[in-house]
Amino acid sequence: MTESLAGAPARMRRLFVRTWGCQMNVYDSARMADVLAPLGYAPAEAPEGADMVILNTCHIREKAAEKVFSELGRLRALKERRAAEGGRMVIAVAGCVAQAEGAEITARAPWVDIVLGPQTYHRLPEMVARAARAAGAVVETDFPVEDKFDHLPEQAAPQGATAFLTVQEGCDKFCSFCVVPYTRGAEFSRPAAAVIAEARRLVAQGAREITLLGQNVNAWHGEAPDGAGEWRLGRLLRALAEIPGLARLRYTTSHPRDVDAELVAAHRDLPGLMPFLHLPVQSGSDRILRAMNRGHTAADYLRLVERLRAARPDLALSSDFIVGHPGETEADFRATLDLVRAVGFAQAFSFKYSARPGTPAAAAPHQVPEPAKEARLAELQALLREQQQAFNRSRVGMGFDVLFTGPGRHPGQIVGRSPWLQPVHVRGPAALIGRVAPVTVLAAHPNSLSAALRDQHEAAAETTRHPNPEEEERISA
Ligand code: 5AD
Ligand code: SF4
Repeated sequence: MTESLAGAPARMRRLFVRTWGCQMNVYDSARMADVLAPLGYAPAEAPEGADMVILNTCHIREKAAEKVFSELGRLRALKERRAAEGGRMVIAVAGCVAQAEGAEITARAPWVDIVLGPQTYHRLPEMVARAARAAGAVVETDFPVEDKFDHLPEQAAPQGATAFLTVQEGCDKFCSFCVVPYTRGAEFSRPAAAVIAEARRLVAQGAREITLLGQNVNAWHGEAPDGAGEWRLGRLLRALAEIPGLARLRYTTSHPRDVDAELVAAHRDLPGLMPFLHLPVQSGSDRILRAMNRGHTAADYLRLVERLRAARPDLALSSDFIVGHPGETEADFRATLDLVRAVGFAQAFSFKYSARPGTPAAAAPHQVPEPAKEARLAELQALLREQQQAFNRSRVGMGFDVLFTGPGRHPGQIVGRSPWLQPVHVRGPAALIGRVAPVTVLAAHPNSLSAALRDQHEAAAETTRHPNPEEEERISA
């Protein structure tokens, strides 16, 4: 039985968390479950009958808030049913929609008990206690100066073979279109010692791969473990690469302006730093990049890609694109297509520009009409799809290591990730889950690869680790 904070046994309660958006939110959801565990909250599979429901929201693109309100509508009915049965369901809205909308949420959905921004998760137990007493809702969306990381419990639930570790939050870049600097606040980096300690814990719990997370992860700059000076991300990656048992490192999401020589050198020197980089460029037009306040040109980006590929020749790139930013002409859009052709992406995400209230671009003149945005997006996505498929096809016949993360869709199958993050399906023993093993690729599919284990016998003899069917999503920058 679980202990309450005061040491007395706590009643078992059920917690349902629904997560939208990026890996940062997935990580935050896990940490919210961690802080509530000492109060007796155990994970529930569905909101029906739960004592507490947290909607961990994302605000990066349009309709996010609408989706949250429609989910809140459904929860209202469940909450009423639970009340009729003599129980109580506490409803909390967390994440970036909570940060952006604040008390608006409880004004529109008065059955919500708690609204909390991303910087206040460590105070969740206190908010739950206050909500239980309060008649009205608890709204906590300020940016407290205290470091939430210092207040979150150290013993997080194990994440499995592929783990995520937030090293940085917030952003000071103020891209014209983006809400992150307003919802997540100013850039904040955790000290190197705290990151290394958490990484060691994750590895002790079975992690073979760690992905460092941050809205602008390569802006990370932390106090060196010995207190002498400051490290940047390249140095941190070097230190993490030395942790015994940690086979793979990744980081996401990066901004082109914050890729320094030390980071490029890390890609050259660290075999465990995976040769796949998500490096959003957003547009290939210098005029639009300037309007977006990105602080780099298309040529800067191409030069950077060249330097990275010189350092690590098998490096593949992924990116984010926005079409139809205010002022974007047909010629600007053609420049984006040119950049895509010049780089050749292994994968990419592309979006129609959507105005986020309060951002400079939302108030800019020359908004692009919807049909033009749609046509541009379709054209860009066709090109990106072609490149992704060409990249996947180029892996056929190749041999490389796969980190197996879970059972496959069919019996006797297991699935893992290639160095370039593609899901790789093989016929193989479940004993390989949580392990790295070499494969040869047999066939390419639009979003995945089929492969054969190279040395099944030897690989299967290794120890089993925790399975973790992995789901990859990228976050901003
Ligand atoms: N409209 C469309 N796409 C956006 N993104 C961020 N803000 C907006 C917006 N207002 C995209 C960017 C970013 C990704 C996470 O979401 O491409 O890199
Ligand atoms: Fe920061 Fe990325 Fe948003 Fe730009 S797009 S403001 S870099 S989070």
